Amino acid sequence: MDSILATAIMAAELAGTKIKHYFHNFDSVQIEYKGRNDFVSKVDKEAEQIIIDTILKNFPNHQINAEESGIKANNSDYKWIIDPLDGTTNFLHQFPHFAVSIGLSYKEELRYGVIYNPISQELFYAQKGQGAYLNHQPIQVSQHETLENALVCTGFPYYKFDYLEDYMNGLNLFMQQTAGVRRPGSAALDLAYVACGRVEGYWEFNLKPWDIAAGALIVSEAGGLATDFAKGEGFLESGNILAANPQFHQNMHQALSSVTTRELMV
Ligand code: IPD
Ligand code: CA
Ligand code: CA
Repeated sequence: MDSILATAIMAAELAGTKIKHYFHNFDSVQIEYKGRNDFVSKVDKEAEQIIIDTILKNFPNHQINAEESGIKANNSDYKWIIDPLDGTTNFLHQFPHFAVSIGLSYKEELRYGVIYNPISQELFYAQKGQGAYLNHQPIQVSQHETLENALVCTGFPYYKFDYLEDYMNGLNLFMQQTAGVRRPGSAALDLAYVACGRVEGYWEFNLKPWDIAAGALIVSEAGGLATDFAKGEGFLESGNILAANPQFHQNMHQALSSVTTRELMV
């Protein structure tokens, strides 16, 4: 296996083991508040340190952009984009749906993505041009094309409500036109679930690069499209993402455009 991918997987599994330990020894976990409805714990911080140590041991010059500790701007075109625990609110409520998410870009192009759920022990990964995998088996997005009978997922706004009305319009539409809408609580796993066809599509506003870098590559390597709301590649900058199989993406985009203010769709 490629040495970068092997390192990313090792880092995700080591961090996942730490997270799982705390999940089963929850009394020792104390919660800190980063902001309203924005929580962090020693679990996030220790998991992140494990990931960074594993990466820098193998690639000491690579750049790091990690949620809890910020940017280490080394002199390299490789940049690791790390969310040590995506789904912290779920974790803190003992709701077993969260993951480690590790992406890597080279000259700003996503090249690798690894997402690991330590509770279900599901490991999703992709390398640019090499396909996407779940526990080492190839995965593909679903083939379902129409909103009718589709299952979609999303993330609700919970601390920044600037576009709440636009969001509610989209939610309203998908609630009425699909078979169901889910809000599982981890953007990384939402994207991984699109990649393996468990849901047809996913949309969310206002995310951070570490929520979606790995998942976006895994979706595209599984035959899907991950774009911003203008169908462009600027989702890491805007934080707005729409991911689905290509035909469903087209239908979802059309539906969202019909109920969303133009300023958000460009
Ligand atoms: C959050 C999760 C959630 C999404 C939020 C993210 P965190 O990440 O991905 O599903 O709706 O916007 O911030 O804070 O648990 O790492
Ligand atoms: Ca996150
Ligand atoms: Ca996180």
